[in-house]
Amino acid sequence: MTDTKTHNDPVYVVDELISKDIDAYLEQHEHKTMLRFITCGSVDDGKSTLIGRLLYDSKMIFEDQLDALTSDSKKVGTQGQEIDFALLVDGLAAEREQGITIDVAYRFFNTEKRKFIVADCPGHEQYTRNMVTGASTADLAVILIDARKGVLVQTRRHSYLCHLIGIKNIVLAVNKMDLVDYSQEVFDKIVADYSAFANSIGIESFTAMPISGFKGDNITTLSANTPWYKGPTLVEHLETVEVISSVDADKPLRMPVQWVNRPNLDFRGFSGLIATGAVRPGDKIRVLPSGKTSTVSKVVTFDGEIEEAVAGESVTVCFEDEIDCSRGSVISIADNPPQTADQFESTIVWMADDALVPGRAYWLKLATQTVSVTVHEPKYTVNVNTMEHMAAKTLELNEIGVAEIVTDKQIVFEPYADNRALGGFILVDKMTNATVAAGMINFSLRRSQNVHWQALDIGRKQHAALKNQTPAVLWFTGLSGSGKSTIANMVEKKLHRMNRHTFLLDGDNVRHGLNKDLGFTETDRIENIRRVGEVSKLMADAGLIVITAFISPFQADREMVRSMLPEGEFFEVFIDTPLKVAEARDVKGLYKKARSGELKNFTGIDSPYEAPRSPEIRIDTTKMSPEEAANLIVDTLLGDA
Ligand code: ADX
Repeated sequence: MTDTKTHNDPVYVVDELISKDIDAYLEQHEHKTMLRFITCGSVDDGKSTLIGRLLYDSKMIFEDQLDALTSDSKKVGTQGQEIDFALLVDGLAAEREQGITIDVAYRFFNTEKRKFIVADCPGHEQYTRNMVTGASTADLAVILIDARKGVLVQTRRHSYLCHLIGIKNIVLAVNKMDLVDYSQEVFDKIVADYSAFANSIGIESFTAMPISGFKGDNITTLSANTPWYKGPTLVEHLETVEVISSVDADKPLRMPVQWVNRPNLDFRGFSGLIATGAVRPGDKIRVLPSGKTSTVSKVVTFDGEIEEAVAGESVTVCFEDEIDCSRGSVISIADNPPQTADQFESTIVWMADDALVPGRAYWLKLATQTVSVTVHEPKYTVNVNTMEHMAAKTLELNEIGVAEIVTDKQIVFEPYADNRALGGFILVDKMTNATVAAGMINFSLRRSQNVHWQALDIGRKQHAALKNQTPAVLWFTGLSGSGKSTIANMVEKKLHRMNRHTFLLDGDNVRHGLNKDLGFTETDRIENIRRVGEVSKLMADAGLIVITAFISPFQADREMVRSMLPEGEFFEVFIDTPLKVAEARDVKGLYKKARSGELKNFTGIDSPYEAPRSPEIRIDTTKMSPEEAANLIVDTLLGDA
C-alpha cells in the first residue's frame, strides 16, 4: 500500500462537526469522569462500525449528521442495513476512496455515567506512529478481532504497542459474532489464543467480550444471542473501568512547572498541570532539580483559592518562601521526590522520514523540560509483528528500538512505567523543529556503588540437599535453528517427569525480559551470556538443574560460565547442526533475511560461531532424532550413559 501522502498529514484530526460544539459539550458534562480510549483493529474488523454504533447508541449524533448518513448509506448500498455506521466515522475523503482509515481521529461521546474520547487508529503497519500517538493518552484499548479470522499479526502488533505505551486496561472485543452463529466455541478459542500471546509479552490481564457492532450485541445490553456470556457489556465496562487520572491522584505529587505567574510584586505563583498526586495549602514540597523545600501557602485557579487540587488539574501554586523555581522545574512532595539523571535507557518510536542519526544532538522535551540529547546506536529494534529483537544501526520511520540516551544536563524524571508524564518524551530535530520521535524512559544508568557481599547461612549445599539432587547446568550451544530449544524442552520434560527440579532459560525468552536491552553485536552477545551465566549460577546455587538454550557463539564466554561453577556441574551440550541444514530449515525466516542483507550480524552468515572444542555432550542432529538426543543428554547427566 502507498503511504507517501500521509507522512506529513496532521496527526490529530478532530471531527469538525463535533469540535464546533465541544465547549458546550464539555460544559454540559463537566461533572462526569472522562475515559480516553483507543480502538485498534485491522482494515475489516468493523472498527468504524463499532465506533459509529457507540456514538449512535449514546445519542451523540446530531440530526443533520443523521440525515447525511442515511442518504450516504443509500448511495453506497448497504444491502438492507438501515444505517451504515462506518460511514459516520470514516470522515476523510481519502478513507472513503481507499476504503481504509488513515491517521488518528478523535471522537467525543457520552453516556449517563461518563464522557468519552475515543481515538480511532488505523490498522496498517506503516502507521505505528499514529497508533502510538493515539495510545499515548489512553486509559483503555479496545482490540477488535474479527471472530471469523481470530488473532492476526495486526492483533499482536496493536497489543504490543498498547502494552508498550503502558495501557493497563485491554478489552478484547471479539466482533462479528453474528457471522459465526454466536458460537461460544469460536469465542473461547480466540480468547485462549490471545491469552497465550498476551502472557508472552507481559500483558497481565484483559477483558474479553463477544460482540457484534453491526447488530448491537453486548454493546449496551446483554444479548439473548450469547446466553453463555454473563457480561459486562462493552458500554458497562467502559463506564466502570478505573481511569488513569484516579490512579494518578493516589501517587505522590509531581507538578511540572509551565510558567511563573507574577502579575505584580505581591504575587508569585507557579502554574502547571498536576501530573500525579494532589496539592493542598500547608503541604511540604520540594522543587527539583534544585532540591529546595518550602510549604504551600495557596493553591489558586481561575475561580480563586481552593483547598485541594489533584492530578489532571491545572493550577497555580504559591510557596511560603522565595525559592528558586522556574519553567521546567518539578514541584513534588518533600519526602518522596522524583530522581534526576542524565543517562538513560529508553525505548524510542521513530516517527520521521529521515532516520535517526546516532550521536547527533536533538532536543528532548519531557514534561516542561527541554534539553539537548544524543542517542546512541540502538541496542536492538523490535519487529512489531513477531516481537523479535533485531540488530540495528539506526531507527527508520515507524521503527521501535531500545537505545541509551545522554542529556547535556540532569533532568527530573521517573521511569515511564511509573509515571507517563515524567517518563515520556519527544525528540525534536534542531534544524527543522519537527517532532521526530516519541520515547519512554526505562531507567537511568548508574553504576552500583558500595555493594558488599553478604554471608548467608543457608547455602547451595542445604538447597541441593532439600531437593535431593546434584545441581547442574546443561549449557546448550549451536547455530540459530539448530534445534537447541526443541531438545532442551524435551530434556526438561523428561527430568521433570523424574521429579527433578529444573529450570529452562531460553534465548528468545530471556531476550524479552532480563536481556531485552541487548542486541546482537559482539559486545551485547557477551553481556547476554554473562548475565545468563550469572543467573544459571544463582539457580544452581538454589539447587536446580538449569538448562540453557543460547547460541552463545564464543568459546571464551562459555568457558567463563564454566569457571563460575564447581567442577563437574557444567555440561556443554553442542547441538551440532551444519549451517546448510539449519539454513535450509530456516524456521523463523531469519537466514533468508540475513542473506539478503536485511538482518545484520547474523550468526553463521556475517557473525562468527566458534564450535566447542571438547563439549561434554555432542549431538549430531543429522544422525539423531530430538527424542534420542534428549535421552542421551539425560543419561549422561544422571551418569547412566
Ligand atoms: S546469543 O548469540 O546472544 O547467544 P541468543 O541465543 O540470545 O543469541 O539469541 C538468538 C536468537 O535471536 C535467534 O534464535 C534468533 O531467533 C534471534 N536473532 C535475531 N537477530 C539475530 C542475529 N543477528 N543473530 C543471531 N540470532 C538473532
